[in-house]
Amino acid sequence: MNFHVLTLFPQMIEQTVNTSITGRAVKNEKISLQTVNIRDFADNKHMRVDDYPYGGGAGMVMQPEPVYRAYESVKSHSLAAAQGKRPRCIYLTPQGKVFNQTMAEEFALEEELIFLCGHYEGIDERVLEEIVTDYVSIGDYVLTGGELAACVMIDAISRFVPGVLNNEESSQFESMQDNLLEYPHYTRPEIWHEKQVPQVLLKGDHDKIQSWRLEQSMKRTRERRPDLLAQNRPVTVAYFSPTEGTRKAAELLAMGLTQNPRYLDLTRRKFRKQIRRFQEQELLVAAAPVYGGQLPRLEEGLFTNLRGNHTPCVLMAAYGNRHYDDTLAQMKEILTSRGFVCIGAIAPIIPHIYSEKLGAGRPNEQDREVFRRFSVLIKRRIQDAEDKGFVEVSVPGNPKPEPKAMKPVEKHFIRESCTNCQACVQKCPVNAISRETLEISPEKCMSCMRCVKVCKANAREFDASQVRQYLESNYSVPREIEYF
Ligand code: ADE
Repeated sequence: MNFHVLTLFPQMIEQTVNTSITGRAVKNEKISLQTVNIRDFADNKHMRVDDYPYGGGAGMVMQPEPVYRAYESVKSHSLAAAQGKRPRCIYLTPQGKVFNQTMAEEFALEEELIFLCGHYEGIDERVLEEIVTDYVSIGDYVLTGGELAACVMIDAISRFVPGVLNNEESSQFESMQDNLLEYPHYTRPEIWHEKQVPQVLLKGDHDKIQSWRLEQSMKRTRERRPDLLAQNRPVTVAYFSPTEGTRKAAELLAMGLTQNPRYLDLTRRKFRKQIRRFQEQELLVAAAPVYGGQLPRLEEGLFTNLRGNHTPCVLMAAYGNRHYDDTLAQMKEILTSRGFVCIGAIAPIIPHIYSEKLGAGRPNEQDREVFRRFSVLIKRRIQDAEDKGFVEVSVPGNPKPEPKAMKPVEKHFIRESCTNCQACVQKCPVNAISRETLEISPEKCMSCMRCVKVCKANAREFDASQVRQYLESNYSVPREIEYF
């Protein structure tokens, strides 16, 4: 991330940013800072950059030309300009949109940012119209200039730049992303001024510690910032994932959305049968694998037991590098008709169940970056909905395609190896394996490979060589994640 700051007081910025964690990040080249003194671009021998306001009144106004020239000096060698784009230029002003954590995360996705700091009564409106892309305030009070505000923003944005924070400092798992305040922290000694550290923190039960921390965060937010609590949105990830690929991709996405995801495993028959209701103030992530370009066909349907109440939902169709075809459209149809508003959709690539080559190693580092961008986009859409309501996203594909005849995959059962543990019987998502004979019913089986995956004795094999050959000769070029 390259920060450029147009200012009359470069030292103020340099001294602050080159200190502590941001200072370390500058040294380690995770961020860079370039200040530009607007006064260097004055066009008079006295180096004045301000003048009296037209129409009279108190104070002075910064003239447009020095500001414009200072901006041009940065723009001329900016990455954005090299790509024929306008660089993002943030004007710090109490009249701007109030800065928050989602905005910090969003700005951190840029490669470079230009900050414009005003002084006196402000800057001539005409130059602002030409160069500014974002008007941002750091709070409802008036500072003497934009410099402190720029430093605040640079600090908060830098925390989201990869490599700026080390593992201990990492911003990934903090509660502010859920609009919650942090839980209280304690360190040694265990008793101080006769005050004891809460017992739960001393016992090492991580599940209990996590729920205690969440409870404390909620309590604190309720007491100190009830306005924030109103924006907290519990996230549930409902997934169908016989071989874990979809679940792993959904977990990655959830990490960017919340610190406390709830999971609903629809691979399990009983969870597909229970009706689950969601409130408007929640978010559903619905994730499914793609089978032959469609949603897996299940007797009782998939996602059909979920009920929204204008609940926003994000769709994920995970596929093995061929195509997701109609899957997102089908998911949208099912969920919309059940009270959800689909506000985003993503089609990540995961390992193909019939080929070790297709989708190998996916999601990879680059995919994680796409997930990060997508989750920030979703958070932005949720925040924007406060004023405008949720906007339904369009997705490609046929919402009601004809069922496709899938070539069955040959299955082998190595009876000698079987220990009769019944894992395959219990875990088959479609109840296709006989408890007594352990035979697979060809009518019910959807060739999902779950029985192969869960068999510890390696007593089950699928022969997918024909379909594998076809897939590998036609779909080996790695695809990129698409999102909407
Ligand atoms: N300049 C003066 N006051 C400001 C504020 N509150 N936020 C951002 N920039 C400012």
